[in-house]
Amino acid sequence: MTIKMTLVLNTLESGDCSEQIKALFADKNEEIEIINTADLKIMHCMGCNNCWLKTPGICTIKDEYEIILKKLVSVENFWVVADTKFGFIDYRGKRVLDRIVPMLNMYIEFRDGWERHQLRYHPLNFGFIYKGNGNRELLEEWSMRVARNMAGRSLGVISLDKDEAQENIAEMPPETAATPIENVALETAATPEHIIIINGSPRVKKNSNTNKIIQAFAEGLEEAGITHKLYSLSNHAEWDEAREAFMTNDNIIIAVPLFVECLPSLLLEFLSTLPTERKQPAKLSFILHGGFDEGHQLRLGEKFLQSLPAQLGCSCGGVLVKGGSFLLRNRENSYIKKMTDKMLASYTKMGLSFARNGSFSTPEAQKFTGPEKNPKIGVILFNLIFKRIVKKNFERMAQEWGCTRPLNDKPYLAQQR
Ligand SMILES: Cc1cc2nc3c(=O)[nH]c(=O)nc-3n(C[C@H](O)[C@H](O)[C@H](O)COP(=O)(O)O)c2cc1C
Repeated sequence: MTIKMTLVLNTLESGDCSEQIKALFADKNEEIEIINTADLKIMHCMGCNNCWLKTPGICTIKDEYEIILKKLVSVENFWVVADTKFGFIDYRGKRVLDRIVPMLNMYIEFRDGWERHQLRYHPLNFGFIYKGNGNRELLEEWSMRVARNMAGRSLGVISLDKDEAQENIAEMPPETAATPIENVALETAATPEHIIIINGSPRVKKNSNTNKIIQAFAEGLEEAGITHKLYSLSNHAEWDEAREAFMTNDNIIIAVPLFVECLPSLLLEFLSTLPTERKQPAKLSFILHGGFDEGHQLRLGEKFLQSLPAQLGCSCGGVLVKGGSFLLRNRENSYIKKMTDKMLASYTKMGLSFARNGSFSTPEAQKFTGPEKNPKIGVILFNLIFKRIVKKNFERMAQEWGCTRPLNDKPYLAQQR
């Protein structure tokens, strides 16, 4: 019988709960390796896309995450152990998952009816072990989505805290009932005059698709006479001011790209540094966008965002959801430029709509997402015609980026155990 290899990344402070974690795997016929990531230097993914388009399979960030990538190419099961914040995996845990992207390549295909990136190596099963007040339903769905992206199955979600009663309480955003400021906030912020916009993408502002979306959206706000101030979290020097603005303004929009099925670890870190008690009410709304164009790719992220305002002492101004933003990155091609001009113009319209309604909780905003899923005929046409065109486009882009290796290169395969 072949023995399965399992990698467990313990992202808790200084390998916390090590014995408890070992005990979980004690009776499994698997070769287990547990790595305490608190002992390693691991940075946030900065969304540069070099691991797909410039140095396929190799991350540009030269920290100690490469140790993990080299191990992942020879395991079947991958577990992450993390603390929870806002009912979800905390930023330290999410950080090791955002960095997993080199395990996929740039090429796109349909798997189980969803748009997916091709695997660079082999399928990977994924499981999540957590500490603290996690929203179990959310975490289970998220783990399943992560596993499917890797063409594997979910190994499940396990709580390290035995108090089940406590866990059930955590399934509801805890502050919802205790902070009844929703109506006050809606009244005071229904017709905004000034809006704080936070770009939650880790990608530098000049390359950020979120920034392009914000600029288009803000044109709509300006047309309606609303001013705004933008903060970009990719620039750490703006964090203090962004925090101050978050705490002292009554109308805030966070615009954010989907990263591994939910928020980027960088934004999760920023949010976890905010005080939870506010002196004045505020309305918090979101623009959530992602690379793939199907609406359902973004629904888990949307669900999480809907639970956030109450946990930050704010009322919820809704979530504007749209996919297909990857195309905004490269607008030199005239066909892509035409398509993306149209997309950006639609964001300007949504800026005007937000100015009129003071929220994204409108039928107009709901319609904005577009189709949840590609129709069967779309999938057939993609496989017959568009797949090759898209592939060529990616290869052309890679050439422009100075890439000298095939996009489906497997740089760590030779180093397998
Ligand atoms: C690490 C990483 C993970 C991503 N995960 C997803 C995902 O799960 N689903 C998706 O549709 N797009 C995903 N994307 C694509 C981004 O959401 C998309 O390219 C977006 O336009 C990036 O915006 P930005 O340039 O402001 O960062 C991911 C991108 C990166 C770099």
